[in-house]
Amino acid sequence: MAERHDQPAAFADPDGIDRQAVRRAAGLLRAGGLVAFPTETVYGLGAAATDDRAVAAIFEAKARPRFNPLIVHVTDQAAAGALAAWSDRAERLAAAFWPGPLTLVLRRLADSRLSRLVSAGGDSVALRVPAHPLARALLDAADLPIAAPSANRSGRISPTTAEHVRRSLGERVAMVLDGGPCAVGVESTVLDISGERPVLLRPGGVARSRIEAVIGEVHDAQSGGRQGDGTLRSPGQLESHYAPRRPLRLDARAVAPDEALLAFGPIPLEGAMVTANLSATGDLTEAAANLFAMLHHLDAQDVAGIAAMPIPGTGLGEAICDRLRRAAVR
Ligand code: TXA
Ligand code: MG
Repeated sequence: MAERHDQPAAFADPDGIDRQAVRRAAGLLRAGGLVAFPTETVYGLGAAATDDRAVAAIFEAKARPRFNPLIVHVTDQAAAGALAAWSDRAERLAAAFWPGPLTLVLRRLADSRLSRLVSAGGDSVALRVPAHPLARALLDAADLPIAAPSANRSGRISPTTAEHVRRSLGERVAMVLDGGPCAVGVESTVLDISGERPVLLRPGGVARSRIEAVIGEVHDAQSGGRQGDGTLRSPGQLESHYAPRRPLRLDARAVAPDEALLAFGPIPLEGAMVTANLSATGDLTEAAANLFAMLHHLDAQDVAGIAAMPIPGTGLGEAICDRLRRAAVR
């Protein structure tokens, strides 16, 4: 019998995207299910942002505190403008950095279809247009805004591979779309432009200096993140976060034989039981991409603790140092 070549439905597209898997994932999302998917920063745990029950299921699966709002992922600027009050500043930032690792916090439109839960009851919403082709294919296929925090149990290290997601969330997620390791490796920069002054709520994949080149000075959130009324301004920025199971110490100048070493640069400290080097050439982009996978790896070793060598706080180093500082809080 002659082979049929006219219906290669099960094969991946030339761009490497498994369309069938994307369609199945989109169907699950539309039916209120949870799907983990890759973005260029970290893997997200997605649900239809318009569906209260689906969004509630995210909080459940992560064991995430209800007062911590979620990022909503959309296909483009137009989709973002339909959900939140757009501005000239938003326009310039979107033009410069979308699609990409920047999340903008804006005022919700009163008639937005979004679940109130994504805003944790507040009047703002965090919006992001991811660049990862699989995330974009999923947004297109689902034809929905997708609410997605990082796909890890609350307070744990963010996942940068599909395997990390499976280990952390297991049966709690209906499907994991596997897009390989994430290229950026730290979460998106979260910038609040809902008020008069732009406020950096979380350093991330777009360095502060690049944002300042577009809109001028960016301010820091009040320390602790609490506003006058006692509510958390950036609730995700609780001190202890990204916690490995083993104790982590920062700015190590020496390492003990029972410790794991998270090294940086051409001259790693000697004497550790096991070493992972974020970047032997001292490249901060490479270090960001390696950060969470190496923390996962070292945390799985039989060591007394993890020692991290000093890392410069410039460029992407600001996000790396922020995550390490939080990971070191007990
Ligand atoms: O790279 C990322 O941003 C990943 C991928 C999956 O998109 N997502 C992510 O989500 O890191 P999550 O939930 O782990 O972190 C979102 C951060 C939290 O610190 C949260 O408090 C803050 O954004 N956030 C979300 N909505 C907010 C809002 N309306 N106002 C202020 N902060 C908000
Ligand atoms: Mg997270």
